Amino acid sequence: MKNILFASSECVPFIKTGGLADVVGSLPKYFDKKKYDVRVVLPKYSCMKQEWKDMLEYVDHFYMDIAGMDQYVGILKCVYDKITFYFVDNEYFFSGFAPYDGDPKWNIEKYAFFSKAVLSILPVIGFRPDLIHCHDWQTGLIPVYLDNFRYLGEYYRGIKTVMTIHNLKFQGVWDTKTVRSITGLPEYYFVPDKMEAYKDANLLKGGIVYADKVTTVSQTYAEEIKTPFYGEALDGLMRARDNALCGIVNGLDYEEYCPFLDSRIAKKFTVDTFRKNKVANKLALQEELGLNKDSRTMLIGMVSRLTDQKGFDLVDYIMDELCQDAVQIVVLGTGDARYENMFRHFAWKYSGKVSANIFYSEDLSHRIYASCDAFLMPSLFEPCGLSQLMSLRYGTIPIVRETGGLKDTVEPYNEFEKTGTGFSFTNYNANEMLNTIRYAERIYYDKKRDWNKIVERAMNKDFSWKNSARQYDELYKSLIGE
Ligand code: ADP
Ligand code: GLC
Repeated sequence: MKNILFASSECVPFIKTGGLADVVGSLPKYFDKKKYDVRVVLPKYSCMKQEWKDMLEYVDHFYMDIAGMDQYVGILKCVYDKITFYFVDNEYFFSGFAPYDGDPKWNIEKYAFFSKAVLSILPVIGFRPDLIHCHDWQTGLIPVYLDNFRYLGEYYRGIKTVMTIHNLKFQGVWDTKTVRSITGLPEYYFVPDKMEAYKDANLLKGGIVYADKVTTVSQTYAEEIKTPFYGEALDGLMRARDNALCGIVNGLDYEEYCPFLDSRIAKKFTVDTFRKNKVANKLALQEELGLNKDSRTMLIGMVSRLTDQKGFDLVDYIMDELCQDAVQIVVLGTGDARYENMFRHFAWKYSGKVSANIFYSEDLSHRIYASCDAFLMPSLFEPCGLSQLMSLRYGTIPIVRETGGLKDTVEPYNEFEKTGTGFSFTNYNANEMLNTIRYAERIYYDKKRDWNKIVERAMNKDFSWKNSARQYDELYKSLIGE
């Protein structure tokens, strides 16, 4: 039996801002429990819902030196869905209104504290991992601290690390002097072949350099980040770590996202009943959101963080034109004010045709995945993307740009060979996107039988964790044996 510890800044059901939480909350469930004891550690945020905070039990506490302060490290614990979760408690760092509140420096302090605490709690909780699986820049310091902790004694020697990059855009960068004084790490680590990048300290770089293996969340993104366009100025490093780097596409929690069991949607359906039952969901959603009630109009959905990454400037560019077509559009998301206001504006301008829901809601997201005919995701870059997998699962046909995980998971429709599960375009260009949406419209309206076959193929795809968990299993095995 091997011990694995996942360290992450978010995890469903406790706290979520994006797909990272979905991955960390679901992947641990899909390992063979006879082979691995997989546990998860995350911060205990005050902004977690009360129902989750109420579940936590106190384990122990101690004090730890960070940023020149002696800080309280509380350890809480709960078992949920047969997985053990540890929570690092500290009110000074984790009492904001959202996980990533405040300025970059504050976030670096917060996650430097978390990373050091993750290693420091191990002897106290009595769980010595054979491998720590770190996720994104917030845990990038763990492999670095681990290197540094080896000098403390036998306990930390031999623990392996995997660093998974969910989004290379976020790296945790601040000036070297400040990061040195926050982390307390010696000068030795702040050089260009270690944590320094372009004269600043870079936490994600630290993780990438010191981890035994580096993964990212799709094969295409693993290739893309070795190029300057996608490499976020670390493409040289990614090329240098090529031998340790691989892409493993994310899976989806098929119990959580399941059209025939989902109690959040108006009418459950399967691949055999979607023709009749999916439309009931559309009518219910139109009613709920004040859209014109019409079962025949093609309904296009978006559920997303409203940021540049997701391609909303393309949507902005063609929205007036698109709204001349026989389509309805529903968006659920929060993010940059520019995009929030853009969707509010179009919902006002095309009332009954466009619905803008500028908030966060798990419930509504499920209803959108279940009710729409198509799902638009024209990302500038997309490490993996889970929304398109959720759409496929609910027979909602993705229209995507061919990048990262979108390219790896959505097979473009070929009307001659009658293959494909979605529609896609290559260049980051608004007209190309509009042409692709209009092509999808033509199939939807004029070739309904073909459209329904696409839905069938989409729903029959398997993006559960089964395959990807096996690939992580292989990766762990290569580092720690069986
Ligand atoms: P990213 O992690 O880059 O935001 P993903 O597609 O991997 O993109 O994951 C996004 C996740 O966040 C999905 O589970 C999606 O349903 C969810 N999500 C995004 N915005 C909202 C929202 N406003 N309300 C509910 N869920 C949302
Ligand atoms: C990041 C990426 C997204 C990916 C998610 C989970 O947030 O933007 O593409 O699906 O992490 O890995």
